[in-house]
Amino acid sequence: MQNRVVKIIMNGVTGRMGRTQHLARSIVAIRREGGIPLPNGETLWPEPILVGRNERRLRSLAEEHRITLWTTDLKGALSDPDAEIYFDAQATSERASAVKAALAAGKHVYCEKPIAEDLQTAKELAELADRSGLKNGVVQDKLFLPGLRKLKALVENGFFGRILSVRGEFGYWVFEGDWQEAQRPSWNYRAEDGGGIMADMFCHWRYVLDDIFGPVRSVMALGATHIPRRVDENGKTYAATADDAAYAIFELDGGIIAQLNSSWCVRVYRDELLALQVDGTLGSAIAGLHSCKVQHRVNTPRPVWNPDLPEAYNFFDDWQEVPDNNQFDNGFKVQWELFLRHVVNDTAFKFTLREGAKGVQLAEAGLESWRERRWVELPEI
Ligand SMILES: NC(=O)c1ccc[n+]([C@@H]2O[C@H](COP(=O)([O-])OP(=O)(O)OC[C@H]3O[C@@H](n4cnc5c(N)ncnc54)[C@H](O)[C@@H]3O)[C@@H](O)[C@H]2O)c1
Repeated sequence: MQNRVVKIIMNGVTGRMGRTQHLARSIVAIRREGGIPLPNGETLWPEPILVGRNERRLRSLAEEHRITLWTTDLKGALSDPDAEIYFDAQATSERASAVKAALAAGKHVYCEKPIAEDLQTAKELAELADRSGLKNGVVQDKLFLPGLRKLKALVENGFFGRILSVRGEFGYWVFEGDWQEAQRPSWNYRAEDGGGIMADMFCHWRYVLDDIFGPVRSVMALGATHIPRRVDENGKTYAATADDAAYAIFELDGGIIAQLNSSWCVRVYRDELLALQVDGTLGSAIAGLHSCKVQHRVNTPRPVWNPDLPEAYNFFDDWQEVPDNNQFDNGFKVQWELFLRHVVNDTAFKFTLREGAKGVQLAEAGLESWRERRWVELPEI
């Protein structure tokens, strides 16, 4: 049977996310598996054109993955009539202009979050995409994590009864770069380069909360720059101008209260780098990236506050693991497959640029709340 080749312009693939999650673990993995079978018997074969600024790094990446097409000329790539999709995993500050150019060139667009640095630009991109009729999408990878998929299944099965609250801890210690190399790029810590943990993480929290629990209606957030000076990739000390921690409360439809801490300045004492605890009238759950544990109301112990005695009860023992009844593939790859089928077969794809704009809205509202020290409402967009 024939291959249905889909040429994809992939920009920003020399970066951390582009190189690992999108190229190696998604597109290259799909090719390694022989492509994606289509309903008509053909096979969808993704053919990437790697785009970046550094010729040497592009060539070596292309060689590593046996990819033949690469270029430093984005304009040239966009003028290739055979290229159907533009993908962007560049640093956030570079995204909006490139996405606009891609839409203008008639390409379907798929990109990393945040889709833009501010809400006005994000909405403009969503409107341009809507008007163009081109397919468009944004990465919402956390929804494909096994732990969060199990959590969503619990919600859909009515496990919690009435959901009262969601409490989340996300984060880990990101080294300052002096005595140990930082494990994230330095632009993340500079507001002027599109950095900041609210801009980064609130995009994720928006779709996670919206999709699993219900629409976010308002936010109150306090940010902090706990570490004011860091050392960059070239060993140069720089002023960290962006927030490296965010402490936020979100109000959701149905009166659900979500309280999420996001921080690059915490040392981990939990099972995974993300832990979401959900408490409902009938049961509770604690979900991480992979695992999800539950405690039903009938398994709920009866603690009594007594500070005079050391705690003898093991509260962890009353929680039960939700089994892995499914096989979970890499979430980025699963979402790529959905988007490629959406382009080729017009199958449903709900993670559009407009959904991406909602993430930017929450990030912007969080920053506004911090600046003005007040609750900020989120109007429909
Ligand atoms: N979905 C997720 O879980 C997730 C996780 C981390 C980052 N991201 C997003 O992915 C994007 C890339 O993040 P990353 O951590 O891979 O960053 P990175 O710094 O490792 O990579 C950035 C890429 O953009 C390119 N680039 C082009 N112009 C640039 C410029 N002027 N300054 C800096 N880089 C430029 C770089 O060459 C590189 O290929 C960001 O928008 C970020 O918000 C998403």
